Amino acid sequence: MSEELLKLIPEFNLIQEPDLRQKCIKTWEEGIKRGGWKSADLTKMAFTLLIPDCQVSFVEHTRAVTLTCVGVAAVFAQVYGDRNPINRDYLIAGALIHDVGKLMEYAMVEGETVKSEFGAMLRHPFSGVILAAEQGVPVEVLHMIASHAREGDLVKRSKEATILHHADFTNFESLK
Ligand SMILES: [Fe+2]
Repeated sequence: MSEELLKLIPEFNLIQEPDLRQKCIKTWEEGIKRGGWKSADLTKMAFTLLIPDCQVSFVEHTRAVTLTCVGVAAVFAQVYGDRNPINRDYLIAGALIHDVGKLMEYAMVEGETVKSEFGAMLRHPFSGVILAAEQGVPVEVLHMIASHAREGDLVKRSKEATILHHADFTNFESLK
């Protein structure tokens, strides 16, 4: 599955630290397994149920949010230099797995992406933290998963979590 996943989402290779990269891949693999997803369905899975007839897949959304974060980090490095340091590996890791809980929150029924029974109880920031914590993903990245959506409005987001939150909503709101 790792090779298939890397073909779908080559941005895993942007994580420099091999251990962190592996933990993020494992988190995705576990989500795919627990959600009962087939790799063919992953490219058809809608990234949100809040946009009717959404034309952007879950995989595309994950890649776009990750690359948006990479772009922000590049701009900061170019203009601010050392005055606004970003943990680039954490930023990319958090972006790649921020929505991984949707593999449990959603299900595919007759070709349609729907809310699962599990998802009616726990939204993806919660299931995402569970999946990632089980793989030993560091707390700085768990924080990013936990706070990327509206639940996170109640906490003080880290710098990387702030970038991710806005990258996510930029990619969501502009498609509505
Ligand atoms: Fe997202």
